[in-house]
Amino acid sequence: MTDKTSNQMWGGRFAAGPDAIMEAINASIGFDQRMAAQDIAGSRAHAAMLAATGVITDSDADAIREGLLTVLSEIESGNFQFSTALEDIHMNVEARLKEIIGEPAGRLHTGRSRNDQVATDFKLWVRDQFDAAEKGLLALIGALVDQAEAGADWVMPGFTHLQTAQPVTWGHHMMAYVEMFGRDLSRVRDARKRMNESPLGSAALAGTSFPIDREMTAEALGFDRPTANSLDAVSDRDFALEFLSTASICAMHLSRFAEELVIWSSAQFRFVTLSDRFSTGSSIMPQKKNPDAAELIRAKVGRIFGANTALMMVMKGLPLAYSKDMQEDKEQVFDAADNWMLALAAMEGMVKDMTGNRESLAAAAGSGFSTATDLADWMVRVLKVPFRDAHHVTGALVAMAEGRGVDLPDLTLEDMKSVHDGITEDIFSVLGVENSVNSRMSYGGTAPAQVRAQVARWKEILG
Ligand code: ARG
Repeated sequence: MTDKTSNQMWGGRFAAGPDAIMEAINASIGFDQRMAAQDIAGSRAHAAMLAATGVITDSDADAIREGLLTVLSEIESGNFQFSTALEDIHMNVEARLKEIIGEPAGRLHTGRSRNDQVATDFKLWVRDQFDAAEKGLLALIGALVDQAEAGADWVMPGFTHLQTAQPVTWGHHMMAYVEMFGRDLSRVRDARKRMNESPLGSAALAGTSFPIDREMTAEALGFDRPTANSLDAVSDRDFALEFLSTASICAMHLSRFAEELVIWSSAQFRFVTLSDRFSTGSSIMPQKKNPDAAELIRAKVGRIFGANTALMMVMKGLPLAYSKDMQEDKEQVFDAADNWMLALAAMEGMVKDMTGNRESLAAAAGSGFSTATDLADWMVRVLKVPFRDAHHVTGALVAMAEGRGVDLPDLTLEDMKSVHDGITEDIFSVLGVENSVNSRMSYGGTAPAQVRAQVARWKEILG
């Protein structure tokens, strides 16, 4: 005898309904309702295909299509009663469809299972997020290219170990992030291409005996082709993992840039001024303008990479094919996607609004013996001194300047000659930061002309 409380979708073999705790741990409707539109799109494609292949009648397919549109509008307008007893979005939609159209609703699930259904829905959802990430990245890259173009020849200190190393240009520094986000963009596009195969019609795990047309549903849903192995199709979550790992690397890039903005906007650096729109004040210290957006972007990598780790752990021990463990995939991906898009948008806004402080950047560029390498290179080029010896002589000159509390260009020619008597007046021409950056003309180097060439290349790419 079937208990009235047992599940209406599969209660046939059950004598009793689930314990409340069972229902609580089992249900995903609290979060997978975010895939309602994808679920209904998948069902519409499936029903149309079932009719086209003669598995169901055209009139049933029409009723199903109309009914699904009604369900969708109920969900979109917030007039849908989600039920935990119905577990997930798939059964919530189907049960409501049955209420609206009656018997034909029961034919929709022919030749498919929730296993291929959820894989299809989730892929459609993730695919949309890849597209959103592509948009966000393009906008951010555009904002960085604009900054680079405006300050292609602004000098600033370049750092290694966060110690002054050699002068670089603002444009060069901005374009470094363009390269990083450009690689993120190519990862997004690459992963999207790889994941764009339709699992629909793989059914529970073995395929189906109904004469379905998987090419037709794949095409209707914008997939390039159907997946080639039904066991793999229902148990594959690589697309979600690629999404999370791509998001993690990008979030790491965002975090590095955010860290620089936090440092650069401090009173000690004053390299940039962040706009009021992307800063906050302090409730107690009136002088403060805090780079909160940058700090929060810096932190986002934690939860995004956490989601990646969590899903890797969920998947790593699962035998083929579907296991309920896989229901744990969605919340991680939803949260990571929301925060990735938000971080991209916040970074784009900050970059668009920020002002590089040209004077502070230039003042800092000249300090810290940043042109010591230029001095050594001059000795190699003009005096034909081996680089190792030139390095040694320059080190002695740096020590001398440091001892006197001055910079390299402040030493006299006599000072220089006291360390190496071949040095001539000409040396002073390479000690200026402008000359230093202008001389770095190697491909990809910091010279303004090189930066402008990369700006032009990226403008072409961005179209
Ligand atoms: N809510 C489930 C999930 O998200 C749908 C698939 C359920 N399949 C099953 N055989 N119980 O994974």
